[in-house]
Amino acid sequence: MNLILFGPPGSGKGTQAKRLVDERGMVQLSTGDMLRAAIASNSPLGQKVAPIMASGALVPDEIVIALIAERMDEADAAGGAIFDGFPRTLAQAEALDAMLAGRGSRIDVVIRLLVDDAALLARVTGRFEEQGRPDDNPETFKTRLGAYNTQTAPLLPYYEGQGKLKIVDGMGAMEVVSTAVANVLETIAA
Ligand code: AP5
Repeated sequence: MNLILFGPPGSGKGTQAKRLVDERGMVQLSTGDMLRAAIASNSPLGQKVAPIMASGALVPDEIVIALIAERMDEADAAGGAIFDGFPRTLAQAEALDAMLAGRGSRIDVVIRLLVDDAALLARVTGRFEEQGRPDDNPETFKTRLGAYNTQTAPLLPYYEGQGKLKIVDGMGAMEVVSTAVANVLETIAA
């Protein structure tokens, strides 16, 4: 099964993806994690994307599409993947559809985590204080949320038009959200 976890910064995509990996042995493909790993290793890619991520803007499509393409074999081997933070633009969504189609596969479901802006800010501010992730500061968060609203949210009609969009209330406790996600996956598998 190929699943997209979709939502604004701080909506719980990474948290829910990791739970699915632990509970179901699925593979998580997070472009944010891949980019942070590139920065941590100080690779040429990391040096290129560091200032972009620090600003809260999106990294160019061709970079993240290439990162996902490199990991598609892993997804195949696991029988599917959880896409976390990808796609974020129409170009990325179309590239993903083409990559999957070339492998005789497709996206099965897109789960949109609905969380209000005040809760998002509270979550990333809390993480900033605890872990110091540079782009979690309140100013950069505003830019990230703006990028989501202008560049990523317009993908919702794309997936709705394909009949793949499911909505989950992401405001509850992590366990409650996990149960709601599991319920959606059961309806897909049935
Ligand atoms: P990325 O790493 O993808 O970050 P993001 O989408 O901004 O998402 P977050 O990691 O902040 O939030 P999340 O939804 O995963 O929530 P999480 O589970 O962590 O992207 C970072 C940057 O990389 C982008 O700004 C861009 O520059 C670049 N980038 C990445 N992918 C790209 C792409 N495809 N195209 C272009 N550029 C790209 O939870 C957040 C916090 O809330 C945690 O502390 C968590 O413990 C807590 N929490 C989670 N669930 C709950 C809950 N139910 N209740 C209470 N707290 C909760």
